[in-house]
Amino acid sequence: MGFTDRATSALGKRVLIHIAWFLILVALIAGLVFLIVHAIYVRYFAKAKEFATEPASEGTSALPARIPRHSLTARLFHWIMAAAMFVLLFTAFLPKLGVQFNWVTYHWIAGTVLTISILFHLVHASFYLDFWSIWPDRSDIEDARRRFQRFLGKPTEQPRKFAKYPLENKLYHGVVMLSGLAVIVTGICMMFRVRTIFFPRNPYLFSDMTWGMTYALHGLAGVGLITLTIVHVYFAIRPEKLPITASMIVGSMSREFYLQEHDPKRWVIEGLPHHGSAVDGD
Ligand code: HEM
Repeated sequence: MGFTDRATSALGKRVLIHIAWFLILVALIAGLVFLIVHAIYVRYFAKAKEFATEPASEGTSALPARIPRHSLTARLFHWIMAAAMFVLLFTAFLPKLGVQFNWVTYHWIAGTVLTISILFHLVHASFYLDFWSIWPDRSDIEDARRRFQRFLGKPTEQPRKFAKYPLENKLYHGVVMLSGLAVIVTGICMMFRVRTIFFPRNPYLFSDMTWGMTYALHGLAGVGLITLTIVHVYFAIRPEKLPITASMIVGSMSREFYLQEHDPKRWVIEGLPHHGSAVDGD
């Protein structure tokens, strides 16, 4: 059993046509195994979360009761992108699992919505949000090392509280960004193979081999997004993460939650007079 499906081209050559569809089940099972193992680990084995106790920052008493976390624009982007992602996953994979319907039209329309929303997000995040808040920094790496030492039971300094996004969220964003980019770039090429409103069909744009690799990359990144989406939804509904999930709906989180998990020096909020202005985030 190979990881790809091949067919004989008009020239009599065996060419790659797409990934083997059993990988859909592999991706589903990988997501489910991750969440079962993680839930058991947190429930029975993980030590209580501990952070280095820093002296309380001056001015935290001036913080508002609700800490703004996601602007309305950032929330709208998130939910439009999420809706497009679900439509893409279901229209792509249900037919492969035997549910037949006219999926291609819904699929490229959702693909167009995803592409436009990501283009918007690139501009919004570069010019209106704190662009660097989602990329790992030196403190994240040091704290990850400390947390790993703690996990091994070795004595070490305690990790600091998080900036706006913990390292795990930053790494997740990086992987989703790469898979998203792969499905978008290949998906736009694949729109030349089907009838859309954008450009005339041109199945001769690429050679058979190049089309095969384009379809295989689209499928591989696509099944990866199954696992990534399961993991994302799992964390969103874990009880200790609900305040974060709620903030993606209402836009803010409580001051208590913010002070418990985040370092006001690493994630600066408006309302602390000596810290300068706030930065928005997605
Ligand atoms: C979560 C994201 C996505 C997933 C999981 C996904 C998955 C898939 C899968 C499994 C196929 C079937 C390919 C085959 O038969 O080998 C497909 C086809 C297709 N995808 Fe996507 N895709 C995604 C995003 C996109 C995007 C963003 C676009 C457009 C910008 C797009 C455009 C297309 C087109 C036009 C086809 C039809 C190709 C054909 O039938 O010849 N997809 N997609």
